Amino acid sequence: MDPASPQVVVVGSCMTDLVSLTPRLPKAGETIHGSKFFIGFGGKGANQCIQASRLGARTAMVCKVGEDSFGNNYIENFKKNEVCTDFVFQTGAAATGAASIIVNAEGQNAIVIVAGANLLLDSEDLTKATAAITGARVIVCQLEISPEVTLEALKIAHKGGVRTIFNPAPAIADLDPAFYTHSNIFCCNESEAEILTGVQVRSPSDAEAAGSVLLARGCHIVLVTLGGEGCVIVSKEDPNPKHIETHKVKAVDTTGAGDSFLGALAFFMAYYPQLSIEEMVKRSNHIASVSVQAAGTQTSYPYRRDLPQDIFS
Ligand SMILES: Nc1ncnc2c1ncn2[C@@H]1O[C@H](COP(=O)(O)OP(=O)(O)OP(=O)(O)O)[C@@H](O)[C@H]1O
Ligand SMILES: *[C@@H]1O[C@H](CO)[C@@H](O)[C@H](O)[C@H]1NC(C)=O
Repeated sequence: MDPASPQVVVVGSCMTDLVSLTPRLPKAGETIHGSKFFIGFGGKGANQCIQASRLGARTAMVCKVGEDSFGNNYIENFKKNEVCTDFVFQTGAAATGAASIIVNAEGQNAIVIVAGANLLLDSEDLTKATAAITGARVIVCQLEISPEVTLEALKIAHKGGVRTIFNPAPAIADLDPAFYTHSNIFCCNESEAEILTGVQVRSPSDAEAAGSVLLARGCHIVLVTLGGEGCVIVSKEDPNPKHIETHKVKAVDTTGAGDSFLGALAFFMAYYPQLSIEEMVKRSNHIASVSVQAAGTQTSYPYRRDLPQDIFS
């Protein structure tokens, strides 16, 4: 294993967030004035990769953006965050993924996502990234790119002995069973657990029940994140599910908290494999709780230097 090569590889999405703050949401055909506009970097895959990188992981992103200014700017953003961009492909056939977001004074929003170039990441691109994937310790995938390509990436990693973290977000009810058997860690939130199992998830004990259903489909460990309530772990190795509580904080902006948690988890799996899953989840809860105390998505993700150093022991 070459420690200089990426140890955490994320195969997933990149999106540019175009955010307008307005007094209220416009009606059909209406033009209204907003008070503020800003552009942010998002997409679940990229968010998770950047959180892992800020903690000190050597990371690579496998994704596709457009041959446009948003795509070029996203590549710059990866470089600033020390993410390897050798497998960030560009296409002239679609625009960089974009999320147009309108937020009203009450904090309610209306969002249009155009996945664009994300959906053009294909098998051929994966072939170019195969050596990087099989040379890593951990791979992380979500569902914001083509599910077929996602599953192929998980299979390449799993066959190569690389630990796989799969985040089925956004959830699809009839997920291919192979997603479960190729996931070492299957990590979702309450609403995703509910969509996947049909079990209503309103409490940690509901999450344990839903998690057990998911575990039975063939993954090694299931994590269900519970916002300020932390996370539930259901594992093949331990018949008793565990609720790992977190120090609940006053949230400023929870956007991307789940991605901060997953990026942190990937970091600990790659660099502290001797830790128990409970300990990794405890530390990842802490990192995600820092991210909810500042505005924005990636802008709220802590760097290694911002955190108590015992997290890295
Ligand atoms: N209010 C909070 N206080 C402390 N930690 C929090 C809070 N909200 C979220 N977290 C942390 O973030 C993790 C993920 O949160 P959550 O379950 O809401 O994910 P999510 O729904 O995927 O996030 P989002 O969709 O908001 O990005 C939790 O497991 C927890 O560690
Ligand atoms: C879970 O994540 C999805 C995105 O995949 C989000 O739309 C939903 O609001 C989240 N649910 C909860 C309970 O946070």
